[in-house]
Amino acid sequence: MTGVLRGAIGVFDSGVGGLSTLRAIHEAYPHEHLIYVADSGHAPYGDQPAGAIIERAQRITQFLLDQPCKAVVVACNTASVLALPTLRAMTTTPIIGMEPAIKPAAQATRSGVIGVLATQRTIGSESVQRLVAHYASHVKVVLQACPGLVEQVEAGHLDTPETVRLLRAYLSPLCDAGVDQVVLGCTHYYFLRETIARLVGPSVNVLEPAQAIARQLGARSHLLSGLREGDAQGGFSFFSSARNLDVAGDVMARLWGMDLTGQVRPLPV
Ligand code: DGL
Repeated sequence: MTGVLRGAIGVFDSGVGGLSTLRAIHEAYPHEHLIYVADSGHAPYGDQPAGAIIERAQRITQFLLDQPCKAVVVACNTASVLALPTLRAMTTTPIIGMEPAIKPAAQATRSGVIGVLATQRTIGSESVQRLVAHYASHVKVVLQACPGLVEQVEAGHLDTPETVRLLRAYLSPLCDAGVDQVVLGCTHYYFLRETIARLVGPSVNVLEPAQAIARQLGARSHLLSGLREGDAQGGFSFFSSARNLDVAGDVMARLWGMDLTGQVRPLPV
């Protein structure tokens, strides 16, 4: 394939949600080339069997390694909690994943109650159980699966009546329990943060993990084969497995905040 950036950092998600992570990485490392893969044709991951999610994560990781990328960021909590050990076994290239920000929420709470919004797969995962046991055993944790929200973001419906209806339904058990920290445990929900903040009110802190990922990348930068130097801004390549690339490209452009006409290529895996 021509025109793909060599030595880039590869970033992937089940769809457009990981653009929030991509932005944080770009802000932290503006000179780096970045390749983004939106697996929108297979979203949502969170309702699928673990084996199907792991297989998609393997295929996309191999695609990114083949470019070649010098690091792969799994900008998806669901794929991270299920597939990271398998992906790391494929390569010596650094594979960086994400997990819900349960630890900082448990440290910050004053009410002693924290809430976590994530996909069904993430909420039911061993990783989340382990995070709660290690870091949040002294507080009450309300875990809330949110089916339907990823689809709303994929469609670009960030503040429609249906999105607000779903959010009210998912936030009400958290508010009733007295949370003062809400963890966004899915990268798609970043794009709903303003609506979520409005619904929970100013006394509740909303935590999202994109900045933490960029810091983690920095902490592991010694493992990368050199960060790019000089003043030149890094380039971007965008891929999507969406059936309708024009529609998907429009949503990606809106969330990324830049015209991407003709720039989103079909994902060949
Ligand atoms: N952005 C993905 C995550 O962080 C969404 C997973 C899905 O497609 O259900 O979990």
